Amino acid sequence: MILGASGDIGQAICHRLAAQGWSLYLHYFKQQARVATLQTELQTAYPKQDFFKLQADLTDETAVPPLLQQLFQVDAVVFAEGITTYQLLQDTSSQQIETLWQLHVKTPMLLCQQLNSKLSRSALGRIVFIGSIYGGSGSPMEVAYSTVKGAQSAFANAYAREVASLGITVNVVAPGAVDTQMNHMFSNADQVQLKAEIPLGRMAQPNEIAYWVQSLLAPEADYLTGQTLYVSGGWLK
Ligand SMILES: NC(=O)c1ccc[n+]([C@@H]2O[C@H](COP(=O)([O-])OP(=O)(O)OC[C@H]3O[C@@H](n4cnc5c(N)ncnc54)[C@H](OP(=O)(O)O)[C@@H]3O)[C@@H](O)[C@H]2O)c1
Repeated sequence: MILGASGDIGQAICHRLAAQGWSLYLHYFKQQARVATLQTELQTAYPKQDFFKLQADLTDETAVPPLLQQLFQVDAVVFAEGITTYQLLQDTSSQQIETLWQLHVKTPMLLCQQLNSKLSRSALGRIVFIGSIYGGSGSPMEVAYSTVKGAQSAFANAYAREVASLGITVNVVAPGAVDTQMNHMFSNADQVQLKAEIPLGRMAQPNEIAYWVQSLLAPEADYLTGQTLYVSGGWLK
């Protein structure tokens, strides 16, 4: 199940996993059309696999039970949904903090609770969060976002230990800057400055993040759990 399959990183993950033989639940919030197109493309390219669409607002925990009712087998969950807000903490409202917390941490925790038995029955059993370098380093102007991204890594540290004996692994792939819609709010000048700070001199492409998710979902990745992999081109970490 890919939460945020309508996002740029989510789409890249779906393409890679489908090519590896996975059947997928494709979650979206607002971009129904984007996921419908993805579903058609994948179903055409991989006719023997199944691709289902799921809609849910993950800032609303009442969305969890209806989402769960639509699931059959679940071998892996990838949390690739997310938003940020760009402002001083002083200017961040209680509601904005609540929304970031619900979307990145609380609803994923509730989903992990409810998916525990399905994941433990699976021969694989994988949970992967798309976290952020900011969860490790922190960022001014994105203090609330950095906080919830750090919480995703803290959750993975703890939950990995709790479910290790069930054969479930829990990890975070934490990108630096990725060339997606999320960064299109920055001006060209800001983007030039950002790239100059990154040792590799450029943003990541979504596919370069998806590669690590695919790797964590491989059977050979069984022994890696409770980790945050920083995929940042050498930036900040
Ligand atoms: N881009 C970067 O530089 C960067 C860097 C580090 C980490 N990340 C993380 O990578 C993940 C994916 O980001 P992206 O760059 O692919 O962003 P994106 O293209 O903007 O995608 C965001 C995804 O989140 C979903 N979403 C937003 N609000 C939601 C809600 N209320 N309920 C459920 N889903 C919701 C969107 O669904 P709809 O489109 O259907 O509404 C979309 O699928 C996020 O967790 C982000 O924090 C990104």
